[in-house]
Amino acid sequence: MRRFLVLFILFFAIASHAQQNDIDARVDRLIAQMTLEEKLGQLTQLVPDQPEFSPALAKGLVGSILNGGDATQINELQHAIVANSRLHIPLLVGHDVIHGYRTIFPIPLAIASSWDPQMAELASHIAAREARATGIRWTFAPMVDVARDARWGRIAEGAGEDPVLGSAMAAAYVRGFQGSNVAADDSLLACAKHFAAYGAAEAGRDYAAAEISERTLREVYLPPFHAAVDAGVGSLMSAFESLNGVPASGNRYLLEDILRKEWKFKGFVVSDWNAVEELMNHGVAATKQDAALLAIKAGVDLDMWGNSYVTLAAAVRDGRLPQSVVDTAVRRVLRAKFQVGLFDDPYTNPNAAAKVTLTAENRAAARRVAQHSIILLKNDGGLLPLPKTGRSIAVIGPLADSKADILGPWNSQGKAEDAVSALDGLRAVIPGISFARGSGILDGTDDEMNAAIALARNADVTIAILGESSEMSGEASSRSSLDLPGHQQKLLEALVATGKPVVLVVMSGRPLAISWAAEHVPSIVQSWFLGTEGGNALTDVLFGDVNPSGKLPVTVPRTTGQVPVYYAHLPSGRPADDKDKYTSKYIDIPLGPLFPFGFGLSYTKFDYADIALSSTSMKSDGRITVSADIRNSGNRDGEEIVQMYIRDLVASVSRPVKELKAFRRVALRAGETKRVEFTITKRELQFWSTTPGGWIAEPGEFKVWIAPDSASGPESKFTLVR
Ligand code: NOJ
Repeated sequence: MRRFLVLFILFFAIASHAQQNDIDARVDRLIAQMTLEEKLGQLTQLVPDQPEFSPALAKGLVGSILNGGDATQINELQHAIVANSRLHIPLLVGHDVIHGYRTIFPIPLAIASSWDPQMAELASHIAAREARATGIRWTFAPMVDVARDARWGRIAEGAGEDPVLGSAMAAAYVRGFQGSNVAADDSLLACAKHFAAYGAAEAGRDYAAAEISERTLREVYLPPFHAAVDAGVGSLMSAFESLNGVPASGNRYLLEDILRKEWKFKGFVVSDWNAVEELMNHGVAATKQDAALLAIKAGVDLDMWGNSYVTLAAAVRDGRLPQSVVDTAVRRVLRAKFQVGLFDDPYTNPNAAAKVTLTAENRAAARRVAQHSIILLKNDGGLLPLPKTGRSIAVIGPLADSKADILGPWNSQGKAEDAVSALDGLRAVIPGISFARGSGILDGTDDEMNAAIALARNADVTIAILGESSEMSGEASSRSSLDLPGHQQKLLEALVATGKPVVLVVMSGRPLAISWAAEHVPSIVQSWFLGTEGGNALTDVLFGDVNPSGKLPVTVPRTTGQVPVYYAHLPSGRPADDKDKYTSKYIDIPLGPLFPFGFGLSYTKFDYADIALSSTSMKSDGRITVSADIRNSGNRDGEEIVQMYIRDLVASVSRPVKELKAFRRVALRAGETKRVEFTITKRELQFWSTTPGGWIAEPGEFKVWIAPDSASGPESKFTLVR
């Protein structure tokens, strides 16, 4: 059996090597026939409604498009270029398939709350199949930017604040989108974005500069990209921002030294939208041609939207740009076109799309992923789950009946009319539920509020569904305040003042600073934006058909002024101490975040005990295991996300107070205990040394926790010896 397996693997390795050689030979033959203008066309990505597009299409001088329309429109464009251009090279059609195409899944921050890479894989695989059926071959996803500042609206699009959770999600998305064969009719070429450190934007302002140390770059912002590359991602997108003074889309250190030389990335790099020309705004290029020169020399192969690479023809002719630089970029782009199968068949069957989109099966998957994405933050007195009979329920809030907002930002071809709003979901179980908006998302009237309060007074329990509209997160949606927007805080306070129990459901694309609610509202659920089946999944959790199991992939701040706040911060010489004024803290809020990273409750209870190590000393080439008993001490079955954290106690540089190193979702029946074990190797203990540059693990003492979140759990210690 084993011998058979080895032969099988060997056969595939040889076959894929042969296929790669074949592709390389075909690419070389094509390049040998191309004019300089045709080559630069392959490095140009346009949107069909740009004025430059039609003339370029007619001459075969465009290599890729984004936002190409439906299957018929995409087929027409492919036909135009394949039939009319000299070399018949099909277009690589890209699209932002972020968390679903037609069936919309929870936003990526919500999927990350499942701490379950299989959820990311499932969602991206279905999204790939739906999008591919319309002729799209390439998605601008996954977004793998670590985000530690909730003001940044794009925190919604990624996996949150942690590089280990982010890396697991990044790899899962790549597997889900690309499948085992990127040319298959249920796969898309993936694109890890935005390379790199876009999430470190100053003050959480989108497109703003990032100034971070080399160590922070390596340890925090780069690992998810590296994980995507290791998972075989076919492309990367260069970011908008400048990193330590060098714009990411003209950054040779990132694109060449790290990406290609260190990580051996073989795919291609696309710029973000007009990011090449914007090098002029960054003040590192005086003309569009200078910007194009800087970008292509740095390693940006394909220019999105800006149409700046046409200016490079003159630069090649007058010797400022070696022809070989152009050829290298063209080779990478053409190779991807061969890999996705465009040269075998650039067309798509226009009838196929209807059969694979928004099917009952896809909806069921979306509901399942959404169920895993919901986080129970507070549940005093076991108010949740709500009984289905015997208690009258009022649903209040501007987001309760919104079918559009529950889809979240970047909802592609998702349609509001297909979405199950929270109210739809709840009423499917209890048709008699009463509802009032109470306010708008940003505005509201006294009459609206009074009507809602009257409804709440007459009900036994109120579910308040409050938060942000879907446009308030995502690109260009940074907020200076993390409060509940508009009149919603006032509305919540009025609902609580009725004296009736209130369940708060926070629907948002970022963690909100809900300090008042955390103190005064008995039950709080963080739902994020849950997608097409969101209302059903939320209902499943609120009524207890599903036991919530999500955990926070981000720290929830107490106030906006507390951000950036994240668990893996460096220690202070004066650690926060509420009894000592001269320590690292604010004088006007309690210590610590509102809810820590990794936190989330269940309708059952999990107890952690008996942490033990296989040995208290470890050699640097060795390994030890750490284990603990996790007991479901409640009376319901449940799933718990068990987390392992480590701290390097004394090192040559200051190390974070805690770092997540591994995690596992564990199913436990009521009363059951499982021993959960993690392995520790040098990999879990190393950090980035800047002298001379590289990963090192220093001998000494380490602390280890097996924990339900980043702020608790039993701990132990071990020593790394030479
Ligand atoms: C700009 C965004 O930053 C990027 O994430 C997206 O993929 C492109 N626009 C294309 O829509």
